[in-house]
Amino acid sequence: MPENDALRALIEIEEVWERIDRVEERLIEVSRTGDDFLTDITQHLLFAGGKRYRPLLTQLAGRLGPSRDRRLIEAGAAVELIHIGSLYHDDVMDGADTRRGTVSVNAKWGNSQAILAGDFLIARASEIAAAYLGIESVRLLAETYCELVTGQALELRLTGDLGHGPDRHYRVIGGKTASLIRTSARLGAIASDASSEVVEAVSSAIWELGMVFQLTDDALDLVATEEDIGKPIGNDLLQGVYTLPVLLALEGPSGARVKALLQPEGPLTRERVEEVVGLVREEGFVDVVIRECRDRLATAAEAIACLPDPETRTIFRQMGDFLVDRVEIVDNGAGR
Ligand code: IPE
Ligand code: IPE
Ligand code: MG
Ligand code: MG
Repeated sequence: MPENDALRALIEIEEVWERIDRVEERLIEVSRTGDDFLTDITQHLLFAGGKRYRPLLTQLAGRLGPSRDRRLIEAGAAVELIHIGSLYHDDVMDGADTRRGTVSVNAKWGNSQAILAGDFLIARASEIAAAYLGIESVRLLAETYCELVTGQALELRLTGDLGHGPDRHYRVIGGKTASLIRTSARLGAIASDASSEVVEAVSSAIWELGMVFQLTDDALDLVATEEDIGKPIGNDLLQGVYTLPVLLALEGPSGARVKALLQPEGPLTRERVEEVVGLVREEGFVDVVIRECRDRLATAAEAIACLPDPETRTIFRQMGDFLVDRVEIVDNGAGR
C-alpha cells in the first residue's frame, strides 16, 4: 500500500502511530457482533486495508489540547466506523464490485447484508461515542452523519443531470466527504480538551482539507488509469456523476460538444467517455481544480496559524499537499 507508506513517512510522530494501533485493536473489538456470520461481514473492509486518514486526523488534532486519554482512541474508532459503514452503503448505491483492493461487501454477500452490516457499524459508532465521549460528541457525530447522507442523497438526485452548476456540486462533496473529515479532527481536538478557539480553528481548516480530499479524488478519476487506482478512467462519468472539472467544462468553450457526447441516443460508450475526459483535460479544467485545491489549502493554513503546536501545523499542511501531489504526479506521469 504505497499511499499508507507515504502517510507513515510524513507523520513522523511515534505517539500518533501508537494510538492508531490502539484504534485498530478497538475497531476489531467493536466491529464484532453476536453472530459469526454477520461478524465476517462487518469486519470485511476493516481487514481489507484503507488509509485510516480520518482517525489519523483525530490523533493529530488530539495533540492540540492538554489531555491524552482513551477518548482519543474511541473518537478515532468512531469516525472510522462511520466512514466504513458509509462505504458499505456507498458501494451498494454505486453498484461497486471492488473496494480497498478486494471484493466489495455487496458483491460478496449481496445488497441487503451490506446495508445491514453498514448500519451495524454506524450504530456501534454511536454506542461508543455515548459510552466514552459525552453528549456533545454524540450530537456532533449524529449531525455529521445527517450531513453525509444529505450529500449522498443530493448526488443521487443530480446523477445524469447536466444542468447543475458547481454550487450544488460543492454541497454534495461538502456533505458526503468534508463533513466527516472535519468532524474527525474536531472530535480529536474536543477529546484532548483543547480550547474552543483551537477547536473552531482546526474545524475550519480541516473542512477545507475535506473539500480538497474529494476534489482530488474526483480529479484522479479523470487522470488516473486502471493501473494507477484500480478503476477505469472516467468511471464517474460512466455512472452519470459529473464532478467539478466536467461541470466547468460544460460551462466552457467546448460545453456543447461535451454535452452532446454525454447525451447519446444509445448507451454511453467508453470511447465517448474518453473523448470527454480528453476535452476536459486539454482545456485545462483539471489544472483549474488543482489550483482551487492549492488555494483551499492556503486558506486552511491561515486558519490554523494560531494553533499551539508547530509540528502538528506542518503535518496538517503536508496531509493536504499529499492529496494534491498524488493528482499532479499521475497527471504529469507517463506523458498521458
Ligand atoms: C474513500 O475514502 C471515499 C471518499 C470519501 C472518496 P478513502 O480514500 O479515505 O478510503 P480508504 O478509507 O482509504 O479506503
Ligand atoms: C464515497 O463516495 C462515499 C462517501 C463519501 C460517503 P464516492 O462514491 O464518490 O467514492 P468511491 O469512488 O466509491 O470511493
Ligand atoms: Mg462510490
Ligand atoms: Mg458514491
